[in-house]
Amino acid sequence: MKMWEGRFKKELDSRTNDFNSSISFDSVMYREDITGSIAHATMLGETGIIDKSESEKIIAGLKGILADLESGELAISPEAEDIHMFVEQVLTERIGDSGKRLHTARSRNDQVALDIRMYLKKKTKEVRSSLLALLEIIADTAAENKDAVMPGYTHLQRAQPLTFAHYILAYAQMFIRDVKRLDDCYVRMDEMPLGSGALASTTYPIDRQRVCELLAFSRVTANSIDGVSDRDFVLELSSCLSLIMMHLSRFSEEIILWCSGEFAFVELDDAFSTGSSIMPQKKNPDIAELVRGKTGRVYGDMTTLFTMMKGLPLAYNKDMQEDKEAIFDAVDNTIACVDIFGAMFATLRVRKENMLRSAKGGFINATDCADYLVKKGLPFRTAYKIIGSLVAYCIDNDKTLDALSLDEFHQFSPIFDEGIYHAIDLDTCVNERSVIGGPSASSVDRQIADVRRFLANA
Ligand code: ARG
Repeated sequence: MKMWEGRFKKELDSRTNDFNSSISFDSVMYREDITGSIAHATMLGETGIIDKSESEKIIAGLKGILADLESGELAISPEAEDIHMFVEQVLTERIGDSGKRLHTARSRNDQVALDIRMYLKKKTKEVRSSLLALLEIIADTAAENKDAVMPGYTHLQRAQPLTFAHYILAYAQMFIRDVKRLDDCYVRMDEMPLGSGALASTTYPIDRQRVCELLAFSRVTANSIDGVSDRDFVLELSSCLSLIMMHLSRFSEEIILWCSGEFAFVELDDAFSTGSSIMPQKKNPDIAELVRGKTGRVYGDMTTLFTMMKGLPLAYNKDMQEDKEAIFDAVDNTIACVDIFGAMFATLRVRKENMLRSAKGGFINATDCADYLVKKGLPFRTAYKIIGSLVAYCIDNDKTLDALSLDEFHQFSPIFDEGIYHAIDLDTCVNERSVIGGPSASSVDRQIADVRRFLANA
């Protein structure tokens, strides 16, 4: 018989039971469910809503259940409808009628809202610390690669010189924003909904602030209907996770390109790559590809959540039970991706010589060549045109700019002198870009220091 026996005259059809049940996925919240119930029972006892002795019995019973679940002594029953019903059933089996008093002044609607908030607060912190670990790895890798000149691209065409350190520090900024977004999301997640009841709160003289304090929430939810209807924090977290995955996916895409023979800018450690079952020469970037692939999955979870919520009238509707699988999947996969990506990235071999060779080949110092003429007094557009013809000449003659003789330069403008060779040297091109945010070693030092300062205060 179900908890709601009384109103019902018939046993539940087993198909209804199976279809309705959420125990297979909400049992991961058993700790939160029990901790929330302990706080509720404590408050019920303190306010005199139930006898102190009953409250103590309930708390002891709940603690026993928690310990037995942790030790494996007690197994979660797949027959139960959900984790809330399961815990209450076991409690009543163990302590008798006192157990039936736990649900006084509470509904599963505010109970589940509480459990998800508690569970996702914990998971948000986990995502956050995974991101911090990844930022640490990026900062360390950047510090080792300040001299690794590589071409920067626009339209995937070689554009201007920068360094590998400068490049990956761009990703550090994205992940810093991700951490800040999670922190912001956490603020709204950190509200305690218990006391909302089914939707209209309760007539019992409960002490919501006390429960809030016992469960270490920052504040209580302000409206009981919203308290049980709101899943904004789930949607917000899924949006944050989607952004993290988008960043990781772009980074993965770059790594996949860079370890191709055509680029050969990096080599993955053997421990973080895979072979082919047929082609003996292959070394595949499976991890980066899977991270890119799982991004679609996390976006899918986000779409599930937004679509699930969009037409729901207030307050609780059973549709909302669908929030769990989607957000749990998104959170677990995001953490797994950040962690494995970090491990793969930390062991990556940076092939500076290949980066430099590529940087030398693509006329990526053409802007600097034009700027050289501008510094000698020519208007930028005039200089741009001269260098355009110079590049065309180089292409026709299979030469690079730095391989031209001064005589050849003079065919395009008399203004050129010996100084041009220094001006278009790739190291000069990089290190002259010493503005805040630029690729020069000094700018990069500043950016690394920024990341490290963020980590120190995070
Ligand atoms: N398993 C349910 C869920 O996850 C718990 C809340 C049930 N509330 C209700 N009124 N049926 O949403």
